[in-house]
Amino acid sequence: MSEVLATRVVGNVGIIEIDSPPVNALSTAVRTAVIEGLRIHNADDAVAAIVLLCAGRTFFAGADIAEFDDLPIKQPDFDALMAAAESSAKPVVAAIHGTALGGGFELALACHYRVAVPSAKFGLPEVHLGILPGAGGTQRLPRLIGAAPALEMILSGKPVSAAKAAESGLIDQVVEEGKLEEAALAFAQNVVADGAALVKVRDKAVQGTVADLEPVKARHKRQFKGFKAPGHIVQAVEAAITLPFEQGLAREKELFGELLVSRESAAQRHVFFAQRQTAKVPDIGKDVPILPIRKVGVIGAGTMGGGITMNFLQAGIPVTLVEMKQEALDRGIATIRKNYERTAAKGRMTAEQVEQLMGLITPVLSMDELADVDLVIEAVFEEISIKRDIFGKLDGICRDGAILASNTSFLDLNEIAAATKSPEWVVGLHFFSPANVMPLLEVVRGAKTSREVIATVMKLAGTIKKTPVLAGVCHGFIANRIMEHLIVQSQQMALEGVPLRKIDQVMNDYGFAMGPISMLDLIGLDVLIHGAEGRTLMGDFVDAGRRGQKTGKGFYDYDADRKSALSDEAARIIADFAAYANVPQDPDQSDEQIMKRLLYPVVNEGAKCLEEGIALRASDIDVAAILGYNWPVFTGGPMFWGDTIGAKALLEGLEALEPRYGADFAPSALVRTLAAEGGRFTDR
Ligand code: 3HC
Repeated sequence: MSEVLATRVVGNVGIIEIDSPPVNALSTAVRTAVIEGLRIHNADDAVAAIVLLCAGRTFFAGADIAEFDDLPIKQPDFDALMAAAESSAKPVVAAIHGTALGGGFELALACHYRVAVPSAKFGLPEVHLGILPGAGGTQRLPRLIGAAPALEMILSGKPVSAAKAAESGLIDQVVEEGKLEEAALAFAQNVVADGAALVKVRDKAVQGTVADLEPVKARHKRQFKGFKAPGHIVQAVEAAITLPFEQGLAREKELFGELLVSRESAAQRHVFFAQRQTAKVPDIGKDVPILPIRKVGVIGAGTMGGGITMNFLQAGIPVTLVEMKQEALDRGIATIRKNYERTAAKGRMTAEQVEQLMGLITPVLSMDELADVDLVIEAVFEEISIKRDIFGKLDGICRDGAILASNTSFLDLNEIAAATKSPEWVVGLHFFSPANVMPLLEVVRGAKTSREVIATVMKLAGTIKKTPVLAGVCHGFIANRIMEHLIVQSQQMALEGVPLRKIDQVMNDYGFAMGPISMLDLIGLDVLIHGAEGRTLMGDFVDAGRRGQKTGKGFYDYDADRKSALSDEAARIIADFAAYANVPQDPDQSDEQIMKRLLYPVVNEGAKCLEEGIALRASDIDVAAILGYNWPVFTGGPMFWGDTIGAKALLEGLEALEPRYGADFAPSALVRTLAAEGGRFTDR
C-alpha cells in the first residue's frame, strides 16, 4: 500500500484515508492512492459503502499546483480519478473538513454523497491560478446549484461555508465538529440501509440558461481584462448548459488545456508560490524565538500612522497612539473613527465593533507613555534628523527588548539605528499607503537588526494580514526603488511632448489599472516632491496650486466624480519646464518604445537589487511590485515578465536606449551575466 493511503473496514463501510501533508494536494501519488483505495473496497465483499476522508488539516486542497509545470499531467490523471469515484459500484461518501478546494472539491462532486463539519469550506479558486476547474467542476457544479450561481462561484474563486453549501445543495449533511468519521460512517450505513443508491451529479439537469449568465459576467467585468481564464470559464459553463455531460466534459478539458499552457497561468502560479516564499528567510530557522507582541505604540497620527494603527486594532492588539499636539491627535483619532463608521454604514461592521476597535486606542501626547509597549512604529515626517531624535529618545523610554521600528520609505535605517544604544532592536516596517488597505509590508533589515526581531516581525505581518517582503538597506528599498523609474521616465516623456493620455494608455494596455501620470496625481505631487532639491516639474505644478487629484487638478483636471480631463494650464507648465530644462521634443514615440522606457529600467533595477542582496530572491521583487504597486498579476511581476522577454532581449533593449536616455538604462551586471549564460531571474 502507498505511503499516503490507509484503508480500513468498520462494519460494512470501507474507509479510505489519505494523509499527504501539508494540504493533501492531489499529486500523482495521491490520485493513485485514492483510486487504489476505491479498488480495494470495491473488491471487498464485506464492504457495502465507502467513506473518503483525509488526515491532517484539510480535505484535498486541489491539484498539486507544482505538477502543472511538468505537462502532460501524469496518469492516472483527473479524468481517471473522477471516473473511479463516480463509477464506483458502491456508494462513495466524501467526508470533508478544512478546505475542499479546486480538484479536491471536484472530487467530492464526483462522489455520490458529501458530508462536512461546520468549519469546512468549499471553493473553486482555479481562476486565481489563471486556469479553470478542469476535473469536471464546470460541468457538475451547474447541475448541482444552477448555472448562474455556479458561474459566480467559479469566477469569484471565493469559498463558501458548510452552512451555505448545505443550503444550496452542494453537500448533503453538516455533521458535528470533531466527529466527522463517525458521522460519515453513520451516513454511509443509512445509505446502505436505504438501498445504496448511487446518486450521480452528472445525471441531473442544469437549471438556467446562457442568458442567465449575463448579469454574473457583468458583475465580474473588470476581471476579464488581461486575464484569459474568466472568458474560458464562461465558455465552459455555457457548455454545461448547451451540451450533453460527456461533450461538456470534453469541452472543459480542451479549455483547461489551453489555459494550463498560457503565459498568464504560468505567471499566476509563479505568484502563488512567490507569495508563500516571502516569509522564509534563509538564515532564520524555526529555532529563532518569536517575541510576543501584545501592545504596540505608533508615533504620528497622520495618514500613515493612522492607517498603521488600524491594522493592529483589527488584529485585536491595543495601540498607544502618540502625537505632539492635541489637535493633531484628535484629528488622527477622528479619521480612524470615520473610516470604521464608513465600513459600518456599508453593513460590514456593527456599531458595537466600531466602539470595540476604538476602545483599543490609547491616545497620548508624550512618547513617555510608550514604556510598556512591545513594539513602537515611528511614522513621522521623512527627515533623518527628526527620526534620529525620536529613536534616541525611545532608547531611554522603552523597556529593554522592545522592538523599535521606522516606517521610513527612503531613509538610511542604519543611520536611524545608530541613534540608539541597541541597533539590534531596530527594524524598518515600511507600509504602503493606504496602510490599512495595501497588503504589502516591506521589512527592512538593518546591518545590526537581530534575527529574533526579523523572525518576530515576519510573523507579525501575517497577524495583521500583510505579506512581508524582506529588504536590505538602500534608497527606496525594493518596491519604491524599482518603481521610481516609472515615475521618472513618465515625466521625462511628458517633457518630450508625448501626450499624457498616451503614456497612461500604454501602461493600461500592459495591464496596470492606472497609468503612471494618473498615479502621480493620485499620490499627490506635493508628497512626491518632498525632499527634492532645485526646480522640478512636479514642483512647478505644486507652485501653481496643482497638487493632484485631491486639489481637483494636477497633470490632469478632475471633476467631482474624479474623472480626468486634459488641462491647458498643465500643458503650459510642462512646456515651460521643457524649455527651461532644454528637453528635446520627440512627441511621436511608439507604444513599444514608451513601454520599454517605462518598464525595462524597472526590471534592470530589480536585477540590481538581487545583485546587491537587497532582495532575497527575484520572486520577492515580483510580490513587492504586485502588492505594493498593483503590478498586473497576469504578467507575474517585473522579474517573471523579464524572464518572458529574456535577459538577452532585455539587454539589447537597454543598450539601445542608454545612449539617448542615460543612466537609468545602464544594464546591470546580472542582466549581462544572464544574457550571456541564458539564465533566468526567477531562478535566483
Ligand atoms: N498544490 C501544491 N502546494 C500547495 C497547494 C496546492 N494546491 N496548496 C497549498 N500548497 C502548499 C503551499 O505552497 C505551502 O507550501 P510551503 O509550506 O512549502 O510554503 C503549503 O502547502 C501550505 O500552504 P499555505 O501556506 O497557503 O497554508 P494555509 O493554511 O494558509 O492555506 C490553503 C491552505 C487554503 C489550502 C491554501 O494553501 C490554498 O489556497 N491553496 C491553493 C488551493 C488551490 O488553488 N486549489 C486549486 C488547485 S488547481 C486545481 O485543483 C485544478 C483542478 O481543477 C484540476
